[in-house]
Amino acid sequence: MTTATAAAIARSGTQSLQDAGRPVKQRIAFVSGGMGGIGTAVCRRLSKDGVKVVAGCLPGYEKKDDWLAEMRSEGMQVHAAEGDVDDYESCAGMFHRIGSAIGPVDILVNNAGITRDGVFKRMVPSDWYAVINTNLNSVFNVTRQVIEGMTERGWGRVINISSVNALKGQFGQTNYSAAKAGMHGFSKALAQEVVKKGVTVNTVSPGYVATDMVRAMKSEVLDSIVGQIPMGRLARPEEIAEPIVFLCSDAASYVTGSVLFVDAGWTAIDGRFQPPGM
Ligand code: CAA
Ligand code: NAP
Repeated sequence: MTTATAAAIARSGTQSLQDAGRPVKQRIAFVSGGMGGIGTAVCRRLSKDGVKVVAGCLPGYEKKDDWLAEMRSEGMQVHAAEGDVDDYESCAGMFHRIGSAIGPVDILVNNAGITRDGVFKRMVPSDWYAVINTNLNSVFNVTRQVIEGMTERGWGRVINISSVNALKGQFGQTNYSAAKAGMHGFSKALAQEVVKKGVTVNTVSPGYVATDMVRAMKSEVLDSIVGQIPMGRLARPEEIAEPIVFLCSDAASYVTGSVLFVDAGWTAIDGRFQPPGM
């Protein structure tokens, strides 16, 4: 093996810091929307792996202290950081505070998201822009704060949480499907820019998950959607957290620019969602 190849492997995380005989630095993760349904499951699971976790929430979020108390009572090393992912300056301030109080972020999970469903002919501009801002522009606002640090330190993980509806579309979700599909393109482009710097960028696209976001749907609409899912049920947040945390790990060092559908086979089994010739 050439020296250059060995150095690149070590940098990529294939060879862990521990294997290299150096002390292990505790990694720091930031999870946007970290106190929501999927976010909480990701924070729990990362913490179980020994990662120091910072959960993002909106400024003034009233359940923040209760959430922190519950996580800490479970023995987790978690922190909270307040910031609005819709707003670049708010994100800049939040990451400045995280950097000073906790340290530089090694793992970023862009998970904050919202829906404002409605048929397109009746969609108002505020519902279009809110969804594009929180689900897509947020990815720029947040990732921009951490990516240079990751490349300079030679290790980093960015995981963007998209949706099955990015690929298949969904009646009543032109705004959401567009934003989530945008995340796929963003991940593939950024992955190319940082691929030689030890930083991977991937997307996880869940199917329908039992969280408040789905519980807000009309029950008859939800029932008809559950009927289309190959496994015939919603996902549990923990079933989405597992693959996300894998992509955050050293073990995933050779995976980048990929989109992982965690959707009970919905898009993999149904021929309508396969590229021609597959
Ligand atoms: N396909 C084709 N036509 C449909 C349809 C569908 N899936 N759903 C409804 N229609 C038709 C209706 O039959 C109706 O037709 P007529 O006017 O001829 O009677 C017309 O469209 C209007 O339907 P509604 O009366 O239901 O319209 P609405 O304004 O009350 O509701 C909606 C619209 C709120 C968008 C509703 O369709 C809906 O909730 N859709 C599901 C959206 C969804 O899946 N959201 C997921 C949220 S969770 C999430 O997003 C997480 C994730 O990533 C998976
Ligand atoms: P959730 O429980 O509603 O969590 C979303 C989190 O994002 C909430 O904590 C919310 O805070 C936060 N958030 C919203 N706007 C924000 C902003 N401007 N700044 C900072 N934080 C903000 O929903 P979830 O189901 O866990 O969703 C997590 C992610 O998975 C979303 O991106 C969603 O689109 C995606 N997803 C969900 C499903 C599903 O079926 N549930 C499927 C595929 C993909 P507040 O509670 O304070 O608003």
